[in-house]
Amino acid sequence: MPLVKDKHEIHRIRTYVNGLDEHLQGGIPANHITLMCGAAGTMKSSVTFNVLFHEAVNGNNGLYLSLEQSADSLITHMINMDYDFSRIDLIVVRELSELSAKIQAQDKTKGSLFVVDVGCIRKEIRDMQTDNNKSWLNVMKNVIKKIKTEANMKLFVLDSLSALYVLTRLENPRIELFMIFEFLRDMKLTSFLISEMPLDGSKFSEYEIEDFLSDGIIVIRLTPFRRQVVREISIVKMRTTACNNDIFSLEFKNGQFYALYGGQNPLL
Ligand SMILES: Nc1ncnc2c1ncn2[C@@H]1O[C@H](COP(=O)(O)OP(=O)(O)OP(=O)(O)O)[C@@H](O)[C@H]1O
Ligand SMILES: [Mg+2]
Repeated sequence: MPLVKDKHEIHRIRTYVNGLDEHLQGGIPANHITLMCGAAGTMKSSVTFNVLFHEAVNGNNGLYLSLEQSADSLITHMINMDYDFSRIDLIVVRELSELSAKIQAQDKTKGSLFVVDVGCIRKEIRDMQTDNNKSWLNVMKNVIKKIKTEANMKLFVLDSLSALYVLTRLENPRIELFMIFEFLRDMKLTSFLISEMPLDGSKFSEYEIEDFLSDGIIVIRLTPFRRQVVREISIVKMRTTACNNDIFSLEFKNGQFYALYGGQNPLL
C-alpha cells in the first residue's frame, strides 16, 4: 500500500454488502488480502463474486479463479441469483491456450470479469507434462501475472485456499504461504482468499498462519435459531480500518446482500 498523507486518501473497495461497508470506513483498503471464511454453503463464493461483479460494473477488472467449482456451475448459480451479465464483460476461459486471444478480444467499453476454473488448469498441467506437486501453484501464478499485466486486473478471488492445499502439497507451509502472500502483494491486487472453516468454527484457516499473513478476515456462519438457520457475517480483523466487529445477519434479497442488526430473526 503506498504511503498516504491523509486517511481519506486510503482507497477502499466496497464489499457491496449493504450495511457492512458503513462499519468498515467505506470498505476494504485496496491491495489488501482478505480471508473469506465459512463452512460449506455459507455463500462465500457468492459474496466474493458479488464484489468482483460490482467492481466490473464500475470498470475495474477482476479474476475469479475457481479450483473448487467449474466455471459453468459457478455462473449458473450466479444467473439464478439474477446477475445481469450484460452490464459487464464476462470472460470464461475454458482453455489457457485461449487466454491471450480472450484478453485481446476484451470489450474495453465495460469492466471485465475473468472466470478461470480448475479443469482449465488441469488441462494445462497435463499439456506441460510436469504433473508434479508445484505445477498448480506455478500455473496459477502465471494466469494471475498474465491477466494482471495484460488486462489491468485490480481484483482477485481464489476459490479456495482449501482446494489449493489438496492440489499442491505444501512441504513447509510457513515459508510457502509467506511466498504466496508476498506474490499477491507484489501483484498489487485486492485479493479474497476463500477459506473453508470447520463446522465447529474452531479455526479460520488450515494452517492458521494465513490468519496472520492476511490483512483482513471476514467470517460467514450458519447459526441455528430455534428451528430456523440464520446466516451471519462478521469482520474478525481488517488492518488500517476502524471496524465494527459485531455479528450481523446476512441476507440476499432483490439481487443485493444486506448485513443487518436483527434481520430475519432477532439476535438474542
Ligand atoms: N437466489 C439464490 N440462488 C441460488 N442460491 C442461493 C440463493 N439465495 C441463497 N442461496 C444459497 O447459496 C448457497 C450457496 O452459495 P455459495 O455457493 O456462494 O456458498 P459457498 O459458501 O461458496 O458454498 P461451498 O461451500 O459449496 O463452496 C446455497 O446453499 C443456496 O441455498
Ligand atoms: Mg463456494
